[in-house]
Amino acid sequence: MLVKRKVLWIVASVVAAALIVTIVIVVVRGTGRNAVPTPKPSSPTPSATPSPTPTPTPTAPPTPAQLKLMFDRTQYSIDDPTSIWVVVDKLRPMNPPSFAPPDLVSVPVPHVHAPLMRAEASAAVVAMFAAYTSETGLKMQSQSAYRSYAAQQSVYGGNDTLTARPGYSEHQTGLAIDISALPAKCSLATCFADTPQGQWLAANAYKWGFILRYPNGLTDITGYQFEPWHYRYVGVPLATVMHDTGIPTLEQFFDLPPAPAYAG
Ligand code: DAL
Ligand code: ZN
Repeated sequence: MLVKRKVLWIVASVVAAALIVTIVIVVVRGTGRNAVPTPKPSSPTPSATPSPTPTPTPTAPPTPAQLKLMFDRTQYSIDDPTSIWVVVDKLRPMNPPSFAPPDLVSVPVPHVHAPLMRAEASAAVVAMFAAYTSETGLKMQSQSAYRSYAAQQSVYGGNDTLTARPGYSEHQTGLAIDISALPAKCSLATCFADTPQGQWLAANAYKWGFILRYPNGLTDITGYQFEPWHYRYVGVPLATVMHDTGIPTLEQFFDLPPAPAYAG
């Protein structure tokens, strides 16, 4: 009887133990299922690569030296007497000396001496005079334009800083014109620079393709005293780049030697 009770006790103990173990297992598993999943360590958020802020490139305006280099100085000949860029000075005579332009036309503007010029230059003079008058209500006139070799012989007065020797005058190219006020005031005189016409031409002639060929203070380069009346047609692109660069003479723009005096 005692043995039987003991066996029963053991069986009951085993069953109880098994029950406890089962309960523990169920509880532990249940806890595991309902557990809030531990968040995986998040991989570091790749910080957006900062896109480089485009810094506006400061566009500095080109310097006069750069402007000059950007300009194609080989577009026309400076030697050919029929070229609108021909450079004539005391070291660069007309070649041939008796050269006469092939396309001279009468320039239909008010004048002292009936002017002839090459067709392209004539058209530019007409347009420029018309613009001056429509802008200001004032007038200008041609004093002297094309001069042949023979005409220059009669004009040359012996003072090499005032007139060119025959064969050395820009007037022989058919591209130069002496301009005066109308009514006449300070014609072929330095004070023409102070007239409304002289002032307007100095500021605006480049727009029609003209340069003031013998500026004040540059006798050492051009060989001539200040001639505020003498304008030379070179075409709008060259006149404009010379204006914009502030390079006043053809000798400087084309890197030619100064021509203060004749070679011989
Ligand atoms: N007076 C200018 C220089 C000429 O005679 O051509
Ligand atoms: Zn002249």
